[in-house]
Amino acid sequence: MQFLALSNGIKMPILGLGTYCLVGKNGQEAMDKAIQIGYRLFDTAQMYNNEDRLGNAIQSAIKGGIPRKDFFIQTKLLEANNEDSTKKSIEKSLKALKLDYIDSLLIHEPYASSKEMYKAMESFYQQGILKSIGISNFGAKAYEKFIQNCKITPMINQCETHLLLQQKPLREVMADKGTLLQSFSPFIAGKGLILENQSLRNIALKYSKTPAQVILRFLIQHGISTIPKSSKEQRMKENLNIFDFTLNAQDIQFLNSLDTNQSSFAWTNY
Ligand SMILES: NC(=O)c1ccc[n+]([C@@H]2O[C@H](COP(=O)([O-])OP(=O)(O)OC[C@H]3O[C@@H](n4cnc5c(N)ncnc54)[C@H](OP(=O)(O)O)[C@@H]3O)[C@@H](O)[C@H]2O)c1
Repeated sequence: MQFLALSNGIKMPILGLGTYCLVGKNGQEAMDKAIQIGYRLFDTAQMYNNEDRLGNAIQSAIKGGIPRKDFFIQTKLLEANNEDSTKKSIEKSLKALKLDYIDSLLIHEPYASSKEMYKAMESFYQQGILKSIGISNFGAKAYEKFIQNCKITPMINQCETHLLLQQKPLREVMADKGTLLQSFSPFIAGKGLILENQSLRNIALKYSKTPAQVILRFLIQHGISTIPKSSKEQRMKENLNIFDFTLNAQDIQFLNSLDTNQSSFAWTNY
């Protein structure tokens, strides 16, 4: 596993498991499996209704001998009205996750109350209850506006990022501010058949890898953390097995050229 250093020096695995849709008993079994395979970064959200399941999986791993400090647990806040209700909301997530600290807490998307919510996060960060804080779904303009009011610059901005939306303008804006881009939906959530792209398949063949592995490798070679979701053991292994090859400059250049700078989801607003 490779790690990225956040602006405060905390190390985060560059690749983790996205847990959207991993709910109930089956979801928890998938998380248990992922831990056995070697995943240590987990991305959940209040919206996913599975913080408690992730909490169970982490607790049983800790009982099984994996130290808490080896995990990097990230969750995301739903909208809260003000600073006080955000504090209560964070406490709810801590309880569901059965943790006394959270490695990364993000605001799930820009809300009218984001500024107030972030104040509560800064306060919990200063107390050591949150080890890092950040945002999600903030495009370049929203990011630039938001950081004007922050005492602590967000350490992570989690956004839709894949071959067709490489977030170059956002990366440029964030580059010297100390905010890392984290890619969600690296496979465009299975939409649009990106994994069937013939040129991508040809590149994958050359390295004896799969198209999914080439996409993930492309992201991490750009220094972008990513959190592919899979419920299947074989795919979880495949997605983690990307640290033994390097895409050459020509292939990177070709993959860079696939960028359309367009979101694949109707609900985003970059
Ligand atoms: N901040 C936000 O607003 C936001 C929004 C969306 C997602 N996210 C986060 O990002 C995570 C990942 O995004 P996502 O779940 O939307 O989509 P994704 O990771 O792009 O794609 C997941 C889909 O790809 C399939 N898949 C996984 N590995 C594969 C492989 N090696 N080969 C072929 N297919 C594969 C999965 O199916 P199987 O499960 O059947 O393997 C699933 O259908 C989420 O789980 C969530 O944690 C955050």
